[in-house]
Parts: sequence; C-alpha cells; structure tokens
Amino acid sequence: MASLHVSTHPLVAHHMLVLRDPATEPPAFRRVVRQLTRLLAYEATASLPTTDVTQRTPLAEARGRRLADRIAIVPILRAGLGMADGLLEIIPDAEVWHIGLYRDEHTLQPQEYYNKLPPNCGATLALVVDPMLATGGSAVRTCEILRDAGIGRIAFLALIASPQGVATLERDMPDVAIHVAALDEGLNDVGFIVPGLGDAGDRQFGTSPH
Ligand code: PRP
Repeated sequence: MASLHVSTHPLVAHHMLVLRDPATEPPAFRRVVRQLTRLLAYEATASLPTTDVTQRTPLAEARGRRLADRIAIVPILRAGLGMADGLLEIIPDAEVWHIGLYRDEHTLQPQEYYNKLPPNCGATLALVVDPMLATGGSAVRTCEILRDAGIGRIAFLALIASPQGVATLERDMPDVAIHVAALDEGLNDVGFIVPGLGDAGDRQFGTSPH
C-alpha cells in the first residue's frame, strides 16, 4: 500500500520557513531546496536494502554495508532540478533521468515535452523529485512513464504537498512511497498549493510568474 511520510524533523520545519518567505531570493532559495532535499532523502532512504561487504582498511579488514539498489534520480523539469542536485550530493553514483512536464494552466493536465530515460532502464529504484505535489497529475504521469519502462520500485519526494495531490497519487500509484517536508491545506482556484511558497520553478530560476 502507499505510504505517506510527512517529515517532523525540526531542521526541515526550520528551513521550510525560508522557502515560504517571499523575500527569499533565488540563490538562497536554491540552496535551501538542496538542503531540504538532503534532509528529506536521509529519511526516505533509511530502510534501503544493503549488501554485506568486506572493505580492506590500511590496517585490517572491516565489515560494512553497501547500497543494494541501482538508483535513478528522476527530476520533473524544471522545478525538480534543484532537488536532483541535492540528492546527487548524497547519492553521487545515481543515474539522473530527466522528465519534462509542464502543467497546462487551464486544464491543469501535465503536458510531456522531454523524456531522457535511457534505452535500458536498469535501475531497481527510482527516486522522483518535484518540489510541489499539487493536483498530483505530474507525479502520476511520471510514475506511469517509469512503470512503463519496467521500474519496480518508486519513491516520490516533494517539499510541499496538498491533500488532493497525495490522495490522487495514492489512488493511482498505490505502491509508491511518498515523502514530503510539509503537507499544506489545499489548492486555490488556479491549482496552486496554499499556503505553499508560490511557483517553485520561478522562485529557483528567477523567472516571472506566468
Ligand atoms: C509545477 C510543479 C510540478 C507541478 C505540480 O510545475 O513543479 O511539476 O507544477 O502540479 P500538479 O501536481 O498539479 O501536476 P510547472 O508546471 O509550474 O512547471 P515548471 O517546473 O517548469 O515551473
């Protein structure tokens, strides 16, 4: 079954305030997106399977554990790019598969414009990242693309989710684990999360709201 994890970590709560503040400029916004993603990923990866290994040190042999999964990070363009950077800092060996979707501002339906999945998707775990889970359409479409490519296990990481987005993703992708830094009140009449933080893409990249 789907599982929703809303972080209760004090550092996550603290940093979220910076993103919500309209006075936060893009350089600080991008830095905090990366910081929050690392914290969220620390929780989201806590139960990943490992393989027992032996590592020779300068003095002797030590027992250790290595990640068993081959991991793909899947940023939903464009706002997911900053989160992908944060994840790569702690999982540097991961592959990055870019998916380009934008939300039609009238229908709110995801429109696909880019897909850089490799021809042979050998990863055993995909970590999809997008700061905002609003209606859930973009998340569901991305998970469908990954399922069609044969990816067995998927986790979705967002900074802010709406209850509607969570419900849609849980309904359509019941096996996808959902990890969010905050669960907000809902959506406004143009599909933005409230209270939210505005448009995560515009705020990372300094573009004007459309
Ligand atoms: C935003 C956000 C998600 C999507 C969420 O992207 O980053 O991808 O909307 O909405 P949904 O849950 O209702 O599908 P946007 O379409 O603004 O594109 P951008 O990342 O290029 O700014």
